[in-house]
Formats: sequence, C-alpha cells, structure tokens
Amino acid sequence: MSSPTVYSVAGYGEMILNEPRMAAFDAALRQAVTPGCTVIDIGAGTGIFCLLACKYGAAHVVAIEPADGVLLLRDMARANGFNDRITILQGLSTDYRPERPADVIISDLRGTLPLFEHHIATIVDARDRLLRPGGTLIPISDRICGALVQSEDCGKYVEQPWKTNSFGLDLSAGHRFAANHSQKTYLKPEALASSTQDIAVLDYRTITDPNLKAKTVFRPNRKVTPNGLLIWFDLTTAEGIGFSNAPGQPELVYGQTFLPFETLQSVGPEDRIEVTLSATLINGSYEWSWFSDIFRGTDERPVARMRQSGFKSHVLSPARLTVKSNAHVPQRSAKHELDSFILSQIDGKRPIREIADALSARFGDQIETPQKAHDLVAALIGRYE
Ligand SMILES: C[S@@+](CC[C@H](N)C(=O)[O-])C[C@H]1O[C@@H](n2cnc3c(N)ncnc32)[C@H](O)[C@@H]1O
Repeated sequence: MSSPTVYSVAGYGEMILNEPRMAAFDAALRQAVTPGCTVIDIGAGTGIFCLLACKYGAAHVVAIEPADGVLLLRDMARANGFNDRITILQGLSTDYRPERPADVIISDLRGTLPLFEHHIATIVDARDRLLRPGGTLIPISDRICGALVQSEDCGKYVEQPWKTNSFGLDLSAGHRFAANHSQKTYLKPEALASSTQDIAVLDYRTITDPNLKAKTVFRPNRKVTPNGLLIWFDLTTAEGIGFSNAPGQPELVYGQTFLPFETLQSVGPEDRIEVTLSATLINGSYEWSWFSDIFRGTDERPVARMRQSGFKSHVLSPARLTVKSNAHVPQRSAKHELDSFILSQIDGKRPIREIADALSARFGDQIETPQKAHDLVAALIGRYE
C-alpha cells in the first residue's frame, strides 16, 4: 500500500480547529465510548480522537499513524493523565495484527472527497479484521452530492489564460488540459445552477469496492451557462450526527471539487445534462472522469458530448512515456553504478558513515565532498526504510 499524504502539525491543528468537523466526530465518539471499552484511532495524526476517547472512559486506545506527528501524542497523553491507556503504533493499520479486535474504530482518512488514496480499502480491512462483531465504526457513511454550477471564480482558470488572455497571443492549445483539471474550491450557494442531486452513498458498514461509477441527471434551475459540476460530501459520523460540506454550510477544511465542462452551452429548465462520474483507484490515487451529455428539451440526441478526465489534464511527453514501455531498454549510467555500489555495501553491520566513506573512496572523481557522499547514501537508504 502506498504512503498516505503527509500533513504538518499546523495542518493537523487546522483540522482540530474546524468546528463542525470536530463537533460531529466528538459527538459520535462520546456516544460510542462506554467505560472500559477499547478504541482504535486509524490515522491518528497528533491523536485528538485518542485523547477524547480516554476522556470519555476508554480503557485502552491504539493510535495508528505513519506520520511523525503522532510522536507528539506521547507528551499530550502524559499532559492529560492518559499515558497508561494509549498505545502508539507508527505505521499503517493494514499492517497491524491485534490480539483482540476493538469495540470502536474511528478515522477520518478523506481528502477533498471520501474517495481518496486508500481510504476505502483501509476501512474495509479495519471493519473486517480490527473491529469486533457489533462494534462501532465512526463514521458510518458518506453521501456524495453534486450540482451544476456557473462559477466565474472557477471558470476563469479554465477559460481566461488560454482563450481570452490580455497579451494578444493564441494560447488555445492549453485549454483542453485546463478543462480536464479538477479544482479544489469553496463555492457559495449562488453559484449552483441546478438542484442538488445524490450521486452515491458510501456505507462503510458494507462497502467493498473502492471504485465508483454513477450516472446522474441534472436539470438547470434557470436560463444559465453552466461551466462545470460541483461535488461534495455529506458525512454521517453516527446515527443522526454529521455535517454537510455543501455550499452555504459552515466552511470545512476539505473544500469541494469543481469539475469543469469543456464546452459551454446555454441551457434552461427544460433541458438536462446527464453526467456519468467515475472514480477509479490506480496506484493509490483516484483517476476521475466525467462524461457529460447535454440534451435540449425532449430531444433524445445530445447537442453536446464531453468526455473528460483528470488523465487528459496531463501533457504526456513521449520521452517520459517511453521509459514505462515494456520494450524500453534502459542504458547503464554513472548514477546506476553509484546506487548499486551503495546497496552492495549494506550488510546489517556498517553504519551510514562507513558506507559513505567507501563510496567516496571508490567514486572520489564524481563525489566532491564527504557531505555529498553522506547525502547520497542517506537518501538511497531512506527510500527503503
Ligand atoms: C485527515 S488526517 C486525520 C488526523 C486526525 N485523526 C484528525 O482527525 O484530526 C488523516 C491521517 O490518516 C493517516 N493515514 C492514512 N491512511 C492510514 C492508514 N492506513 N493507517 C494509519 N494511518 C493512516 C495519514 O497519515 C493522516 O495523518
């Protein structure tokens, strides 16, 4: 499993400060924790949920988090008198083999949307392996919602530099790449150009598939030229508890996702736009695609068809693609020699200092200083540890 996004301590602080978010997780935890129960906090960050679980009477809490920020939890546990009730495991939950499953599992592994990195696979693994039958999973579910939008704020990045720049230059070759690039944003309700539609529900008690494919029909709420689709989530942390990340709700750290339309068409309430949204997990990140057909009135033939995806936002250099081809024959280089020498020196006994000295002795013509040798060795070894 690839490593999750790393947050700074300041980033974790922003999450703790985000009132609607914390209130919903706090209330769910307070309700789930009974005196003497056991809790696992997956993606503990600096351990806010662990400390709250102890405060509500948990007998034992396991904090699982690969990022170094979790080391602060030891000080915080001590400062709050919970030191003997918290176990810190620096790593991934999928590598954790507990003696006994927990009564409660809490996590918030989402990004802008809940379909983010290995979130779903992590929850499926935790639910099946780390939670006792009948135990409580927090959160319970997410609803992915969307609406058409007409947003100058978002649209300007797609249209202006490439189509209407003020330098009198033709930059239109950039437009189709910008039009396939999703944006993290926060829009006001005035930007919505249709009613909100439910796109999908992710029920963490039953979900197995990390991928999503859903077709949704949007009807404009007025005469408008929508320039994209806005998607967000409504989260349920426990029955009757949660928050919405919709435009008009208190602002959350997550943001919303704007998916631009490549073609702008004026439409009205009698028209419809059918969007098939797909999210496919590839090597630890989601590839989003949004295929949209615009229909006028009762016409069965679309007036516009857009086949858009994040993949199309990248300029693909033939040179960069070639090195991934099966037929590519890599050529031996000086860099390969250095790396293979460093790796050959690892014997489980020699410290980095000795390996760096050996590297300098062997490749003195290429490595100017002992510091450079140290940096090369430390960087290569760091890739494996
Ligand atoms: C959004 S932060 C949440 C931090 C903290 N729980 C909070 O709510 O303030 C998500 C954290 O999950 C961690 N993470 C992601 N996948 C994980 C996994 N499989 N096991 C443990 N931690 C994971 C990331 O390193 C990140 O620090």
